[in-house]
Amino acid sequence: MIRFDFTGTDPFLDKSQWDGVVRRAQAAHRAVLSGTGPGNEWLGWRRILQQPNDALLEDISAVGKEISERADVLLCIGIGGSFLGSEAIIRALSPYFRSNSSKEGVETKALEVIYAGHHLSSTYLSELLAYLEGKSVYVNVISKSGTTLEPAVAFRIIRSWMEDRFDDCERRIIATTDQSKGALRQLSEKMGYRTYIIPDDVGGRFSVLTPVGLLPIAAAGFDIRSLFYGAVAMMAELAETEGNPAIEYALRRYALHERGFTTEVLSVFEPRLAGVGAWWQQLFGESEGKEGKGLFPAVCTFSTDLHSLGQYLQAGRRNLLETFLVAEKERSTLLIPADPANLDGLNYLSGSTLSRINQAAFEGTSKAHLQGGVPIQQITLSMVNEEALGRLIYFFEHAVSVGGYLLGVNPFDQPGVEAYKMEMFGLLGKS
Ligand code: PA5
Repeated sequence: MIRFDFTGTDPFLDKSQWDGVVRRAQAAHRAVLSGTGPGNEWLGWRRILQQPNDALLEDISAVGKEISERADVLLCIGIGGSFLGSEAIIRALSPYFRSNSSKEGVETKALEVIYAGHHLSSTYLSELLAYLEGKSVYVNVISKSGTTLEPAVAFRIIRSWMEDRFDDCERRIIATTDQSKGALRQLSEKMGYRTYIIPDDVGGRFSVLTPVGLLPIAAAGFDIRSLFYGAVAMMAELAETEGNPAIEYALRRYALHERGFTTEVLSVFEPRLAGVGAWWQQLFGESEGKEGKGLFPAVCTFSTDLHSLGQYLQAGRRNLLETFLVAEKERSTLLIPADPANLDGLNYLSGSTLSRINQAAFEGTSKAHLQGGVPIQQITLSMVNEEALGRLIYFFEHAVSVGGYLLGVNPFDQPGVEAYKMEMFGLLGKS
């Protein structure tokens, strides 16, 4: 279901020291499994997979179905880990263009999932409220701390808008938050909203397989059980030390980091995988970027970005490594039509699928970048479905934990995120 090829980093690695690095990576992996590394109180992303709560999965699926049947729009309010996971999965699995379908002559509307509270744009929020006018809206407000400014402010505005329009807000607003702490927990109890709990031992960027990610994904019509159990299956496979691709990925990135590489680019050739890139970016950026260490994670969507960043990637400063995340099978088999006039000179492509051309773009790019001095790695999804994405989520979560331990940092905290908040709250006069 997922294949890994790391050989494109070989020419850039010093294998004389390799055994020592491999031993350290294996020790880091064992520390993750045994819960003996720094930040081990945050290993709930593994615990939830070790003790699957099927009743919770069923409950979330049922509420997701209720939302999809009763709402035109699900508004998800959240930021960072309370936003990126569901956005990644929904975007990867959804058609590019929403359409209402007709089943047995009955028109059914596709639920639209829209995000808010993931920035502070006033224009976005006011135009969003105008767009929602006349629609049936459900809200899922998601915040572990319950106090993050962006979602809290958006929720205050949206709550007031909802109260002016719907008599059944306590049914339409669902909060996902801490089980006992934070303003959102208190407010939800006072208002009688339905709530889901974010477990204490799961950090924001590791929370996609908790109700944080699962409720929006279920409401969007996707199979959260396959997603969840895909991750469970990957966890079992990655328990091994030998032939473990998560260890291999972590140790090669680390070895390149030690050789002066400073940036890892995750490149996708299918725009619907760019959300997975954004989720990966937070996972690796917040987990590893500490104490002056870590690779800067950047996402490129090709071939679009080959026409903006391609020059730099090919011939700019040689401090980049590149990981291609590719989908083997695409949904479309669109053909290039024949054209006897051949005015555009494209007849050499007549009869080819557009997917074949995209594949050639990928193969050509990876070859050219490798020749240009970029270490490359490849992760191939044979299918983009719930199970494969569940597997990929666990793969990256495990790899980033091993990678953080190799760097000597706690991969589960994010003290640096507080700095901008302190400055901003000072400017806003918060006591
Ligand atoms: O990974 C993290 O912990 C952060 O990115 C949080 O997810 C983000 O800051 C949102 O926090 P909260 O869910 O508490 O509102």
